[in-house]
Amino acid sequence: MYLPPHNGSIGVFDSGIGGLSVANAISGLLPRESILYVADNANAPYGARTGGEVLDFSRRITDRLLSAGVKMVVVACNTATSMAIDTLRELYPEVPFVGLEPAVKPAATGKRVGVMATAVTLRSPRYLALREKYLAGRSIWENPCVDLVPLIETYGPGSPQITQYLERLLSSAGPLDTVVLGCTHYPLVGKDIAALLPEGARVIDPSGAAARQVERLLIKGQMLALDEQLPSRYDFVSTGGGVPLQRTLYTLERLNAARRWVVPNFSVS
Ligand code: DGL
Repeated sequence: MYLPPHNGSIGVFDSGIGGLSVANAISGLLPRESILYVADNANAPYGARTGGEVLDFSRRITDRLLSAGVKMVVVACNTATSMAIDTLRELYPEVPFVGLEPAVKPAATGKRVGVMATAVTLRSPRYLALREKYLAGRSIWENPCVDLVPLIETYGPGSPQITQYLERLLSSAGPLDTVVLGCTHYPLVGKDIAALLPEGARVIDPSGAAARQVERLLIKGQMLALDEQLPSRYDFVSTGGGVPLQRTLYTLERLNAARRWVVPNFSVS
């Protein structure tokens, strides 16, 4: 039976390094909490998968996180949230889940709105319902950003490969004043994106809101880590190679400063 312990870690998963943008926000808001992070590099990118495959990966990882004793699961991936979170909530009604969705609500005040997300997210019923609710009848620029996730995994922020890709992509968008980062990988190159937008344009990164939702659910479930549990522990595992995780962790101040472990070739099946 699942028992929500105070001292369990928060389980976080993504197809790769993208969810680190969320883990970083959680560690800033809740420094006492421990994190167990799974990067599913063996199956990435999820955006090139079918919805059924993404659901299957998400179920296996969630099973593995729960058997490791996590007290909550953060689906730190818009693609996995759009395809799997409803099923995961049905399968594990006692587990608190937090998902990531393109933040179209705060974008509604924008005049020229762009949404960057994977193809799976952009065609998902969850996203289409959000768009209908907050951006109905608006002409918005949507782009599945094919190949951007593998480029971020391989080269990281500030690299010429990312700059070239984004220059080409955003030049086709026209002058946007609001851009929704609908994939957790994109905040990792958020500065590169902002540098190519007109001055004053808003780039909406939902990681902070996701971290606040984690806090709300932990308080509600009386599961916040207790004071005496300091220092927190961060474990990062990848189902593939560990290099992208290791390299990205060096760039994220809070996660880099913590005691942390990176394990490659981790099996979730
Ligand atoms: N970071 C993920 C997301 O938020 C998945 C990207 C991918 O693997 O294609 O959608």
